[in-house]
Amino acid sequence: MLEIENVTKVYPGRKGMFGSSAPVTALSDVSLSIRPGESFGLVGESGSGKTTLTRCILRLEEPTSGRIRFDGQDFATLSPAALRAMRARIQIVFQDPFASLNPRMSVHDIVTEPMVIHAAALGLGPRQRTERAAELLDLVGLGPQHLHRYPHEFSGGQRQRICVARALACKPDMVLLDEPTSALDVSVQAQVLNLLGDLQTRLGLTYLFISHDLGVIRYVCDRTALIYRGKIVEQGDTQAVFDAPQSDYARTLIAAMPEVAFD
Ligand SMILES: Nc1ncnc2c1ncn2[C@@H]1O[C@H](COP(=O)(O)OP(=O)(O)O)[C@@H](O)[C@H]1O
Ligand SMILES: [Mg+2]
Repeated sequence: MLEIENVTKVYPGRKGMFGSSAPVTALSDVSLSIRPGESFGLVGESGSGKTTLTRCILRLEEPTSGRIRFDGQDFATLSPAALRAMRARIQIVFQDPFASLNPRMSVHDIVTEPMVIHAAALGLGPRQRTERAAELLDLVGLGPQHLHRYPHEFSGGQRQRICVARALACKPDMVLLDEPTSALDVSVQAQVLNLLGDLQTRLGLTYLFISHDLGVIRYVCDRTALIYRGKIVEQGDTQAVFDAPQSDYARTLIAAMPEVAFD
């Protein structure tokens, strides 16, 4: 479904008032292949390039070299209209549900916004969009009575549910989850993880699930890749990665992992 081939991303150094910074190689020759319907985990510490990879997938950043194909199509070769249509099929949920919701927009406006942006492809009028927004709130366990409320009226976990509803608005095939529970309290994390698991099964979604938390990845993902300083150092079935890690880095990480139980 999503093929990432030899992707390298170098951010050029900046010239600032106090001298210049060196270029940063955020991704180095990254290759991953994500299959339809699976939950693919990407684990790595802060600064290892995880978010940069999502930005390259969504074409918010241009990879310095390498290719990314979705359903066999290389984004670099798509026309602006085809790229827009493709973007509706891959959505993202960010780490921080406080920063990623506009405080001045009602839940209704937040959840219907993607349907407005992709109106040509979806063909929903205003009334149908509102109906769909109500369905989506149900789907994420919030209920349509919240449609006319504002982000500040919700807890972190509820906000993340709103972000998930927004991500699902255009019926995507794939969702990039960039540390979706890292900013939440531990008790709430498990609820949101369960919701994401449920939605994946019910809707047949494909996930790229990013985390720095091996416990979360082990709980959620079918296959897992480890990224260290922009390089993939290990990938395989999640069980195999945990049971028989091949790289020193994976062994160190797994040995340091606290035993965390979810249910
Ligand atoms: N826009 C940017 N310009 C320059 N460097 C960046 C930019 N975005 C990220 N970086 C650098 O790229 C590296 C990877 O960052 P990021 O992809 O955000 O990592 P992660 O999401 O794993 O924490 C870091 O060293 C970061 O400082
Ligand atoms: Mg990040």
